[in-house]
Amino acid sequence: MAGFIRSPLSILFYVLATAAAVASAAPQTSSKVTSDEEYWAERAEVARENNRAAYVSDPVAAMNRFNADVLRSTARRSLRRYQGPCMATNPIDRCWRCRGDWATDRKRLARCARGFGHRTAGGVDGKIYVVTDASDDEMIIPRKGTLRYGVIQDRPLWIVFARDMIVKLRQELIVNHNKTIDGRGAQVHIIGAQITLQNVQHVIIHNVHIHHSAPHSGGMIRDSKRHYGQRTRSDGDGISVLSSSNVWIDHVSMYRCSDGLIDVVNGSTGITISNSHFTKHDHVMLFGASNANPQDAMMQITVAFNHFGKGLVQRMPRCRYGFFHVVNNDYTNWIMYAIGGNKNPTIISQGNRFIAPDNPNAKEVTKREYTPESEYKEWVWKSQGDVMMNGAFFNESGGQNERKYDQFDFIPAKHGSYVGELTKFAGTLKCRAGQPC
Ligand SMILES: *[C@@H]1O[C@H](CO)[C@@H](O)[C@H](O)[C@H]1NC(C)=O
Ligand SMILES: *[C@@H]1O[C@H](CO)[C@@H](O)[C@H](O)[C@H]1NC(C)=O
Ligand SMILES: *[C@@H]1O[C@H](CO)[C@@H](O)[C@H](O)[C@H]1NC(C)=O
Repeated sequence: MAGFIRSPLSILFYVLATAAAVASAAPQTSSKVTSDEEYWAERAEVARENNRAAYVSDPVAAMNRFNADVLRSTARRSLRRYQGPCMATNPIDRCWRCRGDWATDRKRLARCARGFGHRTAGGVDGKIYVVTDASDDEMIIPRKGTLRYGVIQDRPLWIVFARDMIVKLRQELIVNHNKTIDGRGAQVHIIGAQITLQNVQHVIIHNVHIHHSAPHSGGMIRDSKRHYGQRTRSDGDGISVLSSSNVWIDHVSMYRCSDGLIDVVNGSTGITISNSHFTKHDHVMLFGASNANPQDAMMQITVAFNHFGKGLVQRMPRCRYGFFHVVNNDYTNWIMYAIGGNKNPTIISQGNRFIAPDNPNAKEVTKREYTPESEYKEWVWKSQGDVMMNGAFFNESGGQNERKYDQFDFIPAKHGSYVGELTKFAGTLKCRAGQPC
C-alpha cells in the first residue's frame, strides 16, 4: 500500500509544475491552490462512486455464471479441439490464446475476463503505446517511450513492449485509469518498486513478471498527466489496488516482493486474478487491510486458475468483509495456511486442489484470525468440489446462517480433479507473433 499523507511542500511543487506547464492544471475555482490532499479526496470521491457501480447486488449469480462458463467450455474442449500444440484449457484462455492473430488483434483480450472483473476494459478504447525505453529515471516528467510515461496518461492506452526488457522502477508506478499493460510477445520483468492502482477503473495487467519490489521512501511522483505530488512511503507490494474497480490481473508470474504480492484494499471491487503463478513469498494476497474499513464489504473478487506454487507461506488470500470466489486454483504448497481472514468475509472455495505440506500442524487450509468460535461459526466459508490431498482439510463455517441469502443455489464449479489441466499454463506465456500463444 502507498501512503496517503501529503506534505504541504507538495503544494509548492504543484504550483511550480503548473507554472512550468508540464501539465494542464485542474481549473481553479477559488483563489486557493488545490492541494494534493484535495486532489486525492476528489479522486477518492469519484472512485467510490465508480466502485459502487461496479459492485453487483447478487454475487452468487455472478459466481454461477463463472462456473457454468467453465463447465461449458472445458467439456467442449475435452471432446474435440485438442490437436495443435496450443491448448487453451479454461474459458479465459479459450477466448484468445489459440488464435494466430493475437498480435494484430491484441484488444480482443479485453473481452476475455471472467468473474467479478469481467467488465474490465483496460485500454481498449485507446491507441497502442509501445514501451521502447526500459529506464525509469524521471518521476515528474517521465520520458516518452518509458512504461511510466504510458501509465500516467489520462487517455485510454493499450501498452505493449518493443522487446524483452527489465523495467527497474525507481519509485512506485502509479497507473492511471483505462490502461492495459500487455507483455505478450516479450519477456517483461517489472521490478524494483510496486505497481499502484489508486482510485482508478479499468486496468488490465497481463503477461508480465513482477518481482523484487522493494519499499521506497516516496517523493515527487506523477500520477496522471495533470498532476503530480508528494507520495509517502510505498511498501514494496507487487501490485497494490486501492479504492479501484474493474481490475483484471492475468497470466502474471510473481515472486519475492517486500510486502504482499497483491493487496486489494479500501473498498476496491470488481476484480479478477487469474491464470497467474505465485512462488517464493510470505504474504501472498491481502484483501482488506484493516478491521476499521467496513466499507470493504463491497469487495467482490474472483481468484481463478492460478497456481500457488513453491515457497509460499500464507494468505492465498487473507480476507476481510467482502465476497471472495476462490475457484479452480492449484495449491501445491504452503507453510502456514492457504485461505484465511477475519471480519466476516464470505469465502466460497470451489474446485480447488489443496495439497497440504507434510507438517502435521499445517494441514488446515483455512485460518480464522483473532476471532472466537462463537463469532466465526456464522461466517460463510464453504468448500465445494475441492480436492484435498496429503491430509489437507477446509474447516467450513456458516451452516444455515448464511449472510444475505437464505439458500445456496450454487451451480457447482468444475471439480478440483481438473485443476491440473485448468492451470496448466498459469504464469507468463511465451507468445510469438503470427502463432497461437
Ligand atoms: C474507461 O473505459 C470504460 C469502459 O470502456 C468507459 O466506460 C469509460 O468511459 C472509460 N473511462 C475513461 C475516463 O475514458
Ligand atoms: C480509504 O477509504 C476511506 C474511507 O472510505 C477514505 O477516507 C480514504 O480516503 C481512502 N483512502 C484512499 C487512499 O483512497
Ligand atoms: C472448525 O470450526 C468449528 C466451528 O465452525 C470448530 O468447532 C472446530 O474446532 C474447528 N476445527 C478445527 C480443527 O479448527
